[in-house]
Amino acid sequence: MKFLSPFVVLSLATLSGALPASDHVVHEKRSGASTLWQKAARVNGTENVIVRIGLTQNNLDRGYEYLMDVSDSVSPNYGKFWTPEKVAETFAPSNETVTAVKQWLIQGGVDANRLSQTKNKAWIVFNATTAEAETLLHTQYYHYKNAVTGSTTIATDQYRLPQSVTQHVDYIKPGVVLPLTSRKRQAGRKPLRYQPSKKTTPNPSSLATCDEAITPACVAALYKIPVASKDVSPNNSLGIFEEGDYYSQEDLDLFFKNFTRWIPSGTHPKPAFIDGAEAPVPVDEAGAESDLDFQLAYPIVYPQAITLFQNDDYNYASEEIYTSGFFNTFLDALDGSYCTYCADGECGDASGLDPVYPDTNQGGYTGQLMCGTYKPTNVISISYGLQEDDLPEYYQKRQCNEFLKLGLQGTSILIASGDDGVAGPPGDYTDDGCLGNGTIFSPAFPNSCPWVTNVGATKLYPGYTVADGESAAYDPIGDPYSIAYASGGGFSNIYPIPSYQAAAVAEYFNKHNPPYPYYKGAANIGKNGGLYNRLGRGYPDVAANGDNIAMFNAGEYILEGGTSASTPIFSSVINRIIEKRIAAGKGPVGFLNPVLYRNADALNDITNGTNPGCGTDGFSTAPGYVSIVFRSISKVMLMLDV
Ligand SMILES: *[C@@H]1O[C@H](CO)[C@@H](O)[C@H](O)[C@H]1NC(C)=O
Ligand SMILES: *[C@@H]1O[C@H](CO)[C@@H](O)[C@H](O)[C@H]1NC(C)=O
Ligand SMILES: *[C@@H]1O[C@H](CO)[C@@H](O)[C@H](O)[C@H]1NC(C)=O
Ligand SMILES: *[C@@H]1O[C@H](CO)[C@@H](O)[C@H](O)[C@H]1NC(C)=O
Ligand SMILES: *[C@@H]1O[C@H](CO)[C@@H](O)[C@H](O)[C@H]1NC(C)=O
Ligand SMILES: *[C@@H]1O[C@H](CO)[C@@H](O)[C@H](O)[C@H]1NC(C)=O
Ligand SMILES: *[C@@H]1O[C@H](CO)[C@@H](O)[C@H](O)[C@H]1NC(C)=O
Repeated sequence: MKFLSPFVVLSLATLSGALPASDHVVHEKRSGASTLWQKAARVNGTENVIVRIGLTQNNLDRGYEYLMDVSDSVSPNYGKFWTPEKVAETFAPSNETVTAVKQWLIQGGVDANRLSQTKNKAWIVFNATTAEAETLLHTQYYHYKNAVTGSTTIATDQYRLPQSVTQHVDYIKPGVVLPLTSRKRQAGRKPLRYQPSKKTTPNPSSLATCDEAITPACVAALYKIPVASKDVSPNNSLGIFEEGDYYSQEDLDLFFKNFTRWIPSGTHPKPAFIDGAEAPVPVDEAGAESDLDFQLAYPIVYPQAITLFQNDDYNYASEEIYTSGFFNTFLDALDGSYCTYCADGECGDASGLDPVYPDTNQGGYTGQLMCGTYKPTNVISISYGLQEDDLPEYYQKRQCNEFLKLGLQGTSILIASGDDGVAGPPGDYTDDGCLGNGTIFSPAFPNSCPWVTNVGATKLYPGYTVADGESAAYDPIGDPYSIAYASGGGFSNIYPIPSYQAAAVAEYFNKHNPPYPYYKGAANIGKNGGLYNRLGRGYPDVAANGDNIAMFNAGEYILEGGTSASTPIFSSVINRIIEKRIAAGKGPVGFLNPVLYRNADALNDITNGTNPGCGTDGFSTAPGYVSIVFRSISKVMLMLDV
């Protein structure tokens, strides 16, 4: 869904306001009328508005180059990550930009002492009358009324800037953007669960029943994970993201007692609680996601610590107050400059989509929005997400730039690829979670961002052992979960194929052409009956086991499945590799994909299975692409230059 063009739109539309000077060009223009916001009276000129001019970030077009420079193992600067200060400085608007915009305003009659610039340099702000703003921007402002809530705002259909200024301005408020309204999002990525027929836990050291229940011993055997060293770095706690789902200490203790006796009862994550979040909860309220994440990660990383990034106060996290945005308050807490950073037509968190703090609703978190409160960990595991189609494109692109910046600082971000194959969760726009009339594949968010590592799911079919190959995870409806489950994957409608995966994707299409019509580019979604974007970024990037996972939740022994399980497994192994690197005097590894694609043979190739959805079999596994899962951790360690 696109509400506005993020770029300069050259248009012949006439302006009925101030006569445009010949060197003024349309900077932003709204495409189409809003059904939610009704245009009312023109402003009378005397109202005061705070004009916020979002300045263009410097060097954003070079972000990919910078990221590859520190993330690609063949680069001489591999592993030489940037400080947060260098990141902020590099992308801050240039002095030339600041000067050009100030000069234009001062020449337009705004006294220099009325202008202020925000601390992160991203905005120039001043207080003006609507008449003054209309003259400067060659526009006419109108009052708008929200048809549902009755709230009002001031906006314009389009505005103009001098030709020489337009390259320095990303976006101006009040402008053409009308606040969006959240809708209830589908709770994607929550793991699936069922009661096993055997009510007692398997022998914790036996590998005989790994095809029925995946225990810590099965995971260690599948990927040849060595026993962890007792000496761990104080700087390598594994980061795990949670939202609206909470662990219970009782479940962790039951798990440790039954499966990993070397981990003491009471072992728990270090809290990094964001914007009023709290954990743990009593056992009967325990979440299937949080319990799963810790029960998979601790056996791999212990005695290394885990940092729990628990997000948002209960009102927002529980979705008692809808916020269809996702992850922005988390990124704010890791990077203070992101709180007000402008890119792709959005400055700061998105009005109407993201939580607002202090939260004035009953029981809400009354503190200020957390900005730069926590240092990012070397690895962050995220088993949450939505679909690309759930959020505006500009929202996703701004957030994707932030993942790039975290990569530049040396953080590896791993995200679960979803549990609905090529579809979204059932009920997301259509009954089967697909686009168009329920036939077009629905790529996942934020997975399609090229600067994160997506983790798909594999499984062991009955009768196979950990020595046999795994298959792509797929379970039809009712067997064993109440709904169908397939490892998420496909091709983005927003981002083109990044260079690090271009060869792998080309080889996949060349040797294993999917048997479906496709379209080329997001502008052509569904054209000629196409089901997926042939030019989009492909995902997942890697995979790990995510089916029949033995665990304790709400005091019961159960089995769970989902890419929700695969992600903490892969993240924990990366954390162990970093542990070794630190011991060898090296550091974290940052954005993983360039190294993973360059060394695909260090991963165990999955060649059996598909990821069904949208009435199709989805994409088929094939040598070299889709669901590559590593088997030999020693080989992976070599790959990351331990
Ligand atoms: C102009 O509009 C503002 C806000 O709508 C109102 O408070 C003010 O009285 C109006 N002024 C005139 C001269 O109509
Ligand atoms: C930009 O301006 C700031 C403050 O005026 C100054 O400290 C800095 O040196 C300038 N940078 C460049 C590259 O000119
Ligand atoms: C903007 O200026 C007007 C007139 O000077 C003043 O009444 C108003 O409080 C100012 N608004 C802000 C937010 O500073
Ligand atoms: C877990 O371990 C305890 C003893 O340590 C045992 O009594 C219990 O039966 C086990 N739970 C399951 C579900 O096997
Ligand atoms: C951990 O980081 C601190 C500074 O951030 C550094 O002084 C210390 O040497 C590091 N410790 C290890 C074991 O790497
Ligand atoms: C959806 O179905 C309608 C009616 O059958 C058709 O007109 C339309 O083109 C279809 N849209 C897509 C994207 O397939
Ligand atoms: C391959 O996948 C099919 C289901 O698609 C499954 O029945 C079969 O057992 C799998 N083979 C292996 C070797 O895992």
